[in-house]
Amino acid sequence: SLRRGNSASSSAHLLRRGFSSESAPERKVAVLGAGGGIGQPLALLMKLNPLVSKLALYDIAGTPGVAADVSHINTRSEVAGYMGDEQLGQALEGCDIVVIPAGVPRKPGMTRDDLFNINAGIVKSLCTAIAKYCPHAIVNMISNPVNSTVPIAAEVFKKAGTYDEKKLFGVTTLDVVRAKTFYAGKAKVPVGGVDVPVVGGHAGITILPLFSQATPKANNLSDEDITALTKRTQDGGTEVVEAKAGKGSATLSMAYAGAVFADACLKGLNGVQDVVECSFVQSSITELPFFASKVRLGKNGVEEVLGLGPLSDYEKQGLESLKPELKSSIEKGIKFVNQN
Ligand code: NAD
Ligand code: LMR
Repeated sequence: SLRRGNSASSSAHLLRRGFSSESAPERKVAVLGAGGGIGQPLALLMKLNPLVSKLALYDIAGTPGVAADVSHINTRSEVAGYMGDEQLGQALEGCDIVVIPAGVPRKPGMTRDDLFNINAGIVKSLCTAIAKYCPHAIVNMISNPVNSTVPIAAEVFKKAGTYDEKKLFGVTTLDVVRAKTFYAGKAKVPVGGVDVPVVGGHAGITILPLFSQATPKANNLSDEDITALTKRTQDGGTEVVEAKAGKGSATLSMAYAGAVFADACLKGLNGVQDVVECSFVQSSITELPFFASKVRLGKNGVEEVLGLGPLSDYEKQGLESLKPELKSSIEKGIKFVNQN
């Protein structure tokens, strides 16, 4: 019958994609900073993800309310809120993925590096707990400055003897989300089919979108258009910070981007093939120890760090100009852990 035909084809579709929600493996995801501007909508989006079976929402304040609220949504995952240091261990135990949007956001006039003094300590203490309570979890670092907080996490894990370079990710998905949106607008192509790799790091000129590799190809873009798109992508965070005028930085688009990246990690863990996202990871594709590029995700986290591919002259120049800043942000993170 038609009905049977439909259900057979829809289960074939699910098999191709991975799993139906009933057969997907149990996966626990924690959000650290779940009471915040990013944390709350990210908690909502993770509650909507059928690949999650347990959702732990941790913050220094406010999580009982967020957890009670989100827990009423009739989707798969069990939700629990954890508040304060003494509940952090419980939040982390058994986690497959820990997403970290904890820390202060920018105000107009600040750089991401201006957040270092406060956020470095927050990230260090959260990563110390991860090393203790869920040393094998995949970590998705959102807290800024990502160019330094990822090296901080790596150093904390190294000191604890738990570092696995395949499981530590700086979340740069928002740069990709922006590059896709801005490119589609300029090239006048439907945004749903657009792909743009973004490499380097996550601050100002260290964000390097590779519009020469954007698909679908647009023949209607001039060099000036590409320069403008590049700058808009690099300044996307600042555009939001200024528009919010003192009330913080991107939260909703970041929650979306964080949910996309966590979903990709879950699919990789579950054995779905060919899951590729850009992320800031330990890398040997340039001389820098950490670098964002396309990464293939698998059952152990990073399966393969993909190369940069062919660059335009403009992109080659951008790559050389970003290296000194990215190098010093990485070194600042490493030094922070080893001096404190
Ligand atoms: P926010 O101030 O709204 O929320 C931060 C939350 O972190 C608060 O609820 C706070 O209580 C919590 N927090 C502080 N210390 C904590 C600790 N020790 N343990 C657990 N939670 C703690 O800020 P936001 O807008 O959600 O931004 C959070 C971070 O994400 C900022 O550093 C921001 O710069 C960064 N960010 C990164 C990206 C990216 O693309 N990677 C994008 C946007 C924002
Ligand atoms: C962003 O890119 O929106 C975030 O890194 C937040 C910020 O400070 O710009």
